[in-house]
Amino acid sequence: MDTKPFAPACERNRDPILGVLRSAFAACRTVLEVGSGTGQHAVFFAAGMPWLSWQCADLPPQLPGIRQWLDEAGLPNTPPPLALDVAGPWPPGPYDAVFSANVLHIVDAPGVAAFFAGVGRVLGDAGVLVAYGPFNEGGTFTSASNRDFDAWLKARDPRSGIRDLEAVQALAAQAGLRAVDDVAMPANNRCLVWRRS
Ligand SMILES: C[S@@+](CC[C@H](N)C(=O)[O-])C[C@H]1O[C@@H](n2cnc3c(N)ncnc32)[C@H](O)[C@@H]1O
Repeated sequence: MDTKPFAPACERNRDPILGVLRSAFAACRTVLEVGSGTGQHAVFFAAGMPWLSWQCADLPPQLPGIRQWLDEAGLPNTPPPLALDVAGPWPPGPYDAVFSANVLHIVDAPGVAAFFAGVGRVLGDAGVLVAYGPFNEGGTFTSASNRDFDAWLKARDPRSGIRDLEAVQALAAQAGLRAVDDVAMPANNRCLVWRRS
């Protein structure tokens, strides 16, 4: 019996995200994934971008499931997952890139700030950050489904919720990152891309 954790959404969003990452990470060699979740994205992206070393990281309870996915895939470019809370401590790096999907609306507001501060510390000089997920524009939900999703998130944890694009951009700028792309993804999600230089 297959006991690996499984997130159906990963199967739906992985191809459009890979399209963005293949271009954004074309010149990168090392990637830190913050909040790897099940590990599904990691094996798909590491297989699709064999020039990268894909470093998974998440809270300790997620690591056994991630290991199951990595072990089964047996890829040469997926080192064992790291325990990482966005609040810290972060690994020393430097990494050429950071990727994070669907984490900024899960962690609390201090966690979002800690995420960008941490990324600012671990990214190398020409580093790239890609963050995937839903974001609000001008304090407004971009779809009814995102409004419903936000209500569902807040019922679970009032500190969570879809973040404002402007607030996220301000935190990224404080971390020394320059916004270079904002790619619309299916189901009212986006891939936001920043570069250090
Ligand atoms: C909605 S899941 C997304 C997982 C995966 N990236 C995806 O797109 O399917 C949110 C992830 O954030 C992780 N997470 C929650 N709080 C965190 C924190 N404080 N530091 C690091 N990761 C955290 C969870 O363990 C979970 O794996």
